[in-house]
Order: sequence, then C-alpha cells, then structure tokens
Amino acid sequence: MRIDIITIFPEMFSGPFDHSIVKRAREKKLVEIHFHNLRDYSKTKHRNVDDYPFGGGSGMVMMVQPIADCIEKLKSERNYDEVIFLTPDGKIFDQPTANRLSLLGNIIMLCGHYKGIDERVRKHYITLELSIGNYVLSGGELAAAVVCDSIIRLIPGVLSDETSALSDSFQDNLLSPPVYTRPADYRGWKVPDVLLSGHEANIKQWRLEQALKRTLERRPEMAAGEADD
Ligand code: 6GU
Repeated sequence: MRIDIITIFPEMFSGPFDHSIVKRAREKKLVEIHFHNLRDYSKTKHRNVDDYPFGGGSGMVMMVQPIADCIEKLKSERNYDEVIFLTPDGKIFDQPTANRLSLLGNIIMLCGHYKGIDERVRKHYITLELSIGNYVLSGGELAAAVVCDSIIRLIPGVLSDETSALSDSFQDNLLSPPVYTRPADYRGWKVPDVLLSGHEANIKQWRLEQALKRTLERRPEMAAGEADD
C-alpha cells in the first residue's frame, strides 16, 4: 500500500509513524508513506494556502489551486483508489471502513485546516470524507494519523500473528474479554481459575461470556448490531 499525505504540517506525523507497528510496517515495505507539504504548491510570495471566504464571515478557507496542483501531480504518476479528506463533517470512521481501506493499493489523504476547504476541491477530487468522532480537532493531521494507524495494522503481514487483528475489539462487534499475565496472585488479587486450568474449551467459553458481558454493559448499541456496516 502507498499512502500520500497532503498537509501543511508534515512534522506532525513523525511521532506516530516512527514507532511500533507502523514503523515496522514501513521498514518491511508493506506500506510506503509520502508527505507533500501543501505550501510547496502555493504560487504566492509568502507560500499562502488559504484566503478570505467569499461572502464574508470568520475564518480562512483553503484555496483550490495548491490542492488541485498537488493532487493532479500525484494522479499523473499513478492511479489512486481513494482521495480522502479528513474533516469533522465526514462519515464517522469505523472498523468496517478500516478493513476496506486496508485492502487498497494507493490512497491520498488530504488534511484540512482553517474554516474548511474550497468546496470545489471536495466536488472535483475527493472520493471519501472521514471524521474520527464528534469533536473538533485543530486540523486533519491527528485524524489522518489515527486512520493510517488503524488501516496499516490490518495490511496482511504487518502483525506477526495475523489472528491478533481478527480478535481485536470491534472485529466481531464484541469488545475484548479481560486478559491477565503473571503473577497469578498479586497481593491477593487473583487471576480467574479457569485461565489457569489449561482447559481450552472452558477458556474459550469464558472469554466469549466475558466479551458479551462487557459489550452489553459498556456498549449495548454495539451488541444490538447497530455498529455493523
Ligand atoms: Cl477528520 N478533522 C478535524 N479538524 N476535527 C475532527 C476530525 C477531523 N474528526 C473529528 N474531529
């Protein structure tokens, strides 16, 4: 998979993308991430990428020209499966969407800022608009990092034990059951006997019961299947 990220703050990604699973996936060449500083596509003296909104009002609007030039350059080099715009008014990102995106070849992610982007960008270039939740972030960068992390870990070969992604919370509309490691008794706080029993069928049954209980207590709407796509 190749991900091209268009942003005015490429440095914001160095933390999340240079550690842990995403770092390993990049080293193994299972994903290639390329950054494009939108200011490099500005044609103004001061490298502006925003301007005042027509009709007045507060806040600046990201201009169409730098974004159009950047996207068109990328599209002239290869085909893209999705051109994604990260915006609080997009579709809420969820596990089924992560699963689908993890199977794509090339994607562009455009990080929004200011009051928004010129609507013509959305109309002519964007194929998918995503939000990561019902709250407002200062820009699309953190949201793009979240979306990238969740899809990169699903790319085949990224996780050492492929079943570990399948057993994640949300993959089967169930939260994960509790887990424990040594010691079996810490200050009298004991690990449930069944996990020490070595009885595989009982352990499996217990984990399913716990997952169901947890889901009903914490996320009843998820257990009802509403989270499904
Ligand atoms: Cl994608 N962008 C911004 N600015 N805020 C958000 C968001 C995206 N998703 C949730 N809040």
